[in-house]
Amino acid sequence: MLRGMGSSFGALFRITTFGESHGAGLGVVVDGCPARLSLDLGQIQAELDRRRPGQSRLVTQRKEGDQVEIISGVLDGVTLGTPIAMLIRNQDARSKDYEGVAQAYRPSHADYTYDAKYGIRAIAGGGRASARETAGRVAGGAVAQQLLARRGIEIVAWVDEVCGILAAVDPALITRAQVDINDLRCPDPVAAPTMIDRIERARKDGDSVGGVIRVVARGVPAGWGEPVFDKLEADLAKAMMSIPAVKGVENGAGFAGTLMTGSEHNDPFYRRADGTIGTRTNHSGGIQGGISNGEAITLRIAFKPTATIMRPQDTVDPAGNPAVLAPKGRHDPCVLPRAIPIVESMMALVLADHALRQQAMRLD
Ligand SMILES: Cc1cc2nc3c(=O)[nH]c(=O)nc-3n(C[C@H](O)[C@H](O)[C@H](O)COP(=O)(O)O)c2cc1C
Repeated sequence: MLRGMGSSFGALFRITTFGESHGAGLGVVVDGCPARLSLDLGQIQAELDRRRPGQSRLVTQRKEGDQVEIISGVLDGVTLGTPIAMLIRNQDARSKDYEGVAQAYRPSHADYTYDAKYGIRAIAGGGRASARETAGRVAGGAVAQQLLARRGIEIVAWVDEVCGILAAVDPALITRAQVDINDLRCPDPVAAPTMIDRIERARKDGDSVGGVIRVVARGVPAGWGEPVFDKLEADLAKAMMSIPAVKGVENGAGFAGTLMTGSEHNDPFYRRADGTIGTRTNHSGGIQGGISNGEAITLRIAFKPTATIMRPQDTVDPAGNPAVLAPKGRHDPCVLPRAIPIVESMMALVLADHALRQQAMRLD
């Protein structure tokens, strides 16, 4: 299958995002969404509001309303089966903040690699490498979530770890309302204030921190996923690794599973009261052989510390001459709170795509 040049994702439920951080606007085209789906447009905007900057002191203070305009594919709130184009105009682009950046590569950003690849780049705001691109994914993901909700599937993500401080919660029970109860989006009332203090301390020191997001999809039936190269966990890993600042993905027990024996790790089968087959434990994270097994699908996603820090940094200019990067601009001291709806959206996009693929595979 021709995958194009990397701006599109999905086989049947397919999105293409467009736009740079400091351009006129950005957005998404969703192709393959079935016709006659009643879309709650307020829900799409609500998801964008959870991602947008300026929500709290824990995130960047760039002021963007992120108001979505539906350009095509929807009539009177119902999908037409044609491409759904959604546009979000940029408002608070301050290109002046990036003047020095043309002369010096920002460490652990995409400046050097974009130059190496294209020989030209939209310098202000990190261009297309900026997390502003993810607004398009969240708009597309909100459509996918509404498609999945019709089948009783719900997706919830939350901040699970910051600087080694762990949330102690039962993943089976967490709701979005519990997640959104604080600015960090960590539903553990004991761990959350300690995590927030740690982020605040980093911000005051002109530094940044990373962390781990956990995401759970409940209600996914057994049978979704396309062996061998489009295994469900393979597509989920690609989806999550495509989010800016993500450096690792675990499914189920993940790396902790390497410390267990087979007898500890295996998930015993049993027959549920309703006659369906389930597993008593879920170390497999809801996926076996690349196919969902009907248990909750669980992932943990590792985010690196924000690359921009408010400290001078040694670097070089494009010719390789030594330079010192002066701290300026508006940035997220920790990207996790705003990444929650992005993770949920990428999970929804993968599941919506596999739902349609499974529909195409079975006669019933
Ligand atoms: C929600 C979100 C917000 C982000 N905000 C910033 C930011 O304010 N400053 C920054 O340096 N990086 C931020 N990033 C990460 C950068 O976009 C990313 O690290 C950079 O483009 C390099 O890509 P890479 O880390 O995937 O290699 C953010 C990422 C996400 C998901």
